[in-house]
Amino acid sequence: MTCPALPEGFDATDPDLLRERVPLPEFARLRQTAPVWWCPQERGTTGFDDDGYWAVTRHADVRYVSTHPELFSSATNTAIIRFNGGIAREQIDAQRLIMLNMDPPEHTRVRQIVQRGFTPRAVRGLEGALRERARRIAEQARATAAAAAGGDGGSGDGGFDFVTQVACELPLQAIAELIGVPQEDRLRIFDWSNKMIAYDDPEYAITEAVGAEAAMELIGYAMHLSAARKECPAKDIVTQLVAAEGQGNLGSDEFGFFVLLLAVAGNETTRNAISHGMHAFLTHPEQWELYKATRPATAAEEIVRWATPVVSFQRTATRDTELGGQKIRAGDRVGLFYASANHDPEVFTDPDAFDITRDPNPHLGFGGGGPHFCLGKSLAVMEIDLIFNAVADHLPDLRLTGPAPRRLRAAWLNGIKELRVSHP
Ligand code: HEM
Repeated sequence: MTCPALPEGFDATDPDLLRERVPLPEFARLRQTAPVWWCPQERGTTGFDDDGYWAVTRHADVRYVSTHPELFSSATNTAIIRFNGGIAREQIDAQRLIMLNMDPPEHTRVRQIVQRGFTPRAVRGLEGALRERARRIAEQARATAAAAAGGDGGSGDGGFDFVTQVACELPLQAIAELIGVPQEDRLRIFDWSNKMIAYDDPEYAITEAVGAEAAMELIGYAMHLSAARKECPAKDIVTQLVAAEGQGNLGSDEFGFFVLLLAVAGNETTRNAISHGMHAFLTHPEQWELYKATRPATAAEEIVRWATPVVSFQRTATRDTELGGQKIRAGDRVGLFYASANHDPEVFTDPDAFDITRDPNPHLGFGGGGPHFCLGKSLAVMEIDLIFNAVADHLPDLRLTGPAPRRLRAAWLNGIKELRVSHP
């Protein structure tokens, strides 16, 4: 089916498009005229052996697909709609070992085990350490700003990059705290995680091979950690996942791939929510003033709705079915556009307004419900709260400098690579 309201060749997973912007006007047209739309893709360019996928853009339809895993599988293909050609087949095979790409009952077994690490108590247990980290990150950024402003031989413009100075570190520290990575190993873990994220970006000198090697090293490290805990159990989460008696355990390789998933799913997502959140505050100064004065508990969820760091994920139809008036055939890929659902006027009043007091806020930034709903949601919300509280305390007068934020080139992430700011 064609959509006359869209430019020829439009595909919301095109990395060159997402590097420029999230296509919100096009999503609005799709929601109105073709909410379940067949998006053609050239065979061989995406990593899948087919000619396209169904783009699902309405909130209700994204929820429906997410909550019907028996109709829409996560295991038949991967969660990602587009790989960049070449190595896709191998990537897809390796990705099957990651829970995001599993169906029940296999997924249910793994999820029940790893959930032990994400109970409200476990997440609350990280709060003190992460609050302290957030404070140090903001203080350090303030010192950088002061140096850049000239007091310490700086450049004189007071400018620094919010992404590298503020947004990057807390998500990595949170994952390291969660799995109990010793301090002396953290830099290595951070280095592998960053290489894995960057390898797809032509602006970095990091190649595919370096990215793949970093992934293998991270998996190897996690397997080593799990083998050590099996031999010598401790009172930590690794022990609970791999060596707890009688509750079902992850094998060392399963644990390795779980840590790999955390390094991607919990890292760049939260980093981008923080960077976009700051940009939103700085372009909506009345919201920043409101935040500083009242620190509303609703702010983090609105930041995730606004940013929607994961623009899309996909499922594959297990049998012939119907969705939004379209006939979907078994084997068809179905793309879930969370970024579109989060601006659906059927659900959100004034969806294009950034409103940190929005309540209720049934956004789909963490997924559309169902078995794969983001495992790290409470941790992510806590991190976002902690970092913005610290920024409000230590960098209250932050302002934008320089050009518009430099965006990430990616098929499914709404990312910011650089956000120049300054503090007087
Ligand atoms: C799954 C978004 C932070 C761990 C997901 C999904 C989305 C998502 C959209 C897929 C949901 C689905 O398919 O239905 C986000 C966003 C984050 C964030 C926007 C930050 C703002 C985190 C953090 C962690 C994490 C901090 C852990 C440290 C996971 C895991 C899954 C997942 C393990 C797979 C769950 C499964 O397959 O059962 N996330 N996430 N995420 N997320 Fe997050």
